[in-house]
Amino acid sequence: MTIFAAYPVSEEIAKSGLALRHSKNKEPFMPAIADDISAEIRELKKTIGATILAHYYQEGDVQELADITGDSLKLAREATKVDSPVIVFCGVLFMAETAKMLNPAKKVLLPDLAAGCSLVDSCPADKLARYQEMLRENGRTFQTVCYINSSAKVKALSDWVVTSGNAEDVVRNKVPEGYEILFVPDRHLGAYLQELTGRPMILWNGSCMVHEIFSLGDLLKMKKQHPSARAIAHPECPKNILEHVEYIGGTEAMLKYLASFREPTEFLVATEPNMMWQFERRFPQHTYLPVPGITCACNKCPHMARNTLEKIRDCMRNGAPEILWQPEFDRAKEVLARSLLEGVPVKTPVAGD
Ligand code: 13P
Ligand code: SF4
Repeated sequence: MTIFAAYPVSEEIAKSGLALRHSKNKEPFMPAIADDISAEIRELKKTIGATILAHYYQEGDVQELADITGDSLKLAREATKVDSPVIVFCGVLFMAETAKMLNPAKKVLLPDLAAGCSLVDSCPADKLARYQEMLRENGRTFQTVCYINSSAKVKALSDWVVTSGNAEDVVRNKVPEGYEILFVPDRHLGAYLQELTGRPMILWNGSCMVHEIFSLGDLLKMKKQHPSARAIAHPECPKNILEHVEYIGGTEAMLKYLASFREPTEFLVATEPNMMWQFERRFPQHTYLPVPGITCACNKCPHMARNTLEKIRDCMRNGAPEILWQPEFDRAKEVLARSLLEGVPVKTPVAGD
């Protein structure tokens, strides 16, 4: 396995601003005010003709308002079916851009345009283009597979786009044999896929600031205290966590796994904690114990947390911020469509195209 040291992790974590958590993003307010804002959002939905899509990492009060909740893959596919004129995307920028690319006729609103992602930040398109060029000059035969948590420019430079939900299938069945894979930007997901599929990969050095920092010490302590509990983790977690859990899966896959347990069971959960709102809603018979992070007990994603109820209401009132079409969307949209949408004819791309 090759790891391209494009971005030192410590710098990345520092840059992503763990300090952003809790303080700036969430102004506490009274439940009655939250109810009023939620009621206003429901009214605005009818007035402007909006469908609200929310990722499972949004706060419960936001997920409650949504017409559709899901992981990245489900939301991308659902976005193509929306027939109202407006999509309000409660997630982060790359997700809202994906919705726009897959359903360009819609007005796509994102409550806070600054809702980014540490993975996106770790892979600037110009750096990727230079690295691809260097590999070609060195005679490497490769295709670029990018995680959906990347900019549209990076998607446009890629042969395939994957989510945690379809990555194994794309790597096993769509990337032609005989090609190395340049996997960007999540080195942990890439390493996991490499082990799972046996496909050689060159890994970019990016990571998710949330999934990277679960505390192994706390996980091991919790496993001792709860010997019959099942530990579950997202494949964005590093190997030292993944090798100590009973189940590894993306968010939709985790829901399926929980559904397979009939008897009340304890789960130790190493993923973004808002996910547990869905777990509790769908499977209230189980007990969910969050694995803490090394620097922050709750490990919430500060980017996802930018979408407060007030900002959702305001974007619907103002018709902004809106995702506007960018030149790179033309190419990125094709890569997205052939990678994520079933029934779209698969055109085998030229290596490193
Ligand atoms: P999925 O939605 O594919 O599970 O990815 C998790 C995530 O970190 C989204 O930003
Ligand atoms: Fe990005 Fe991680 Fe937040 Fe998902 S949870 S948006 S991967 S920083």
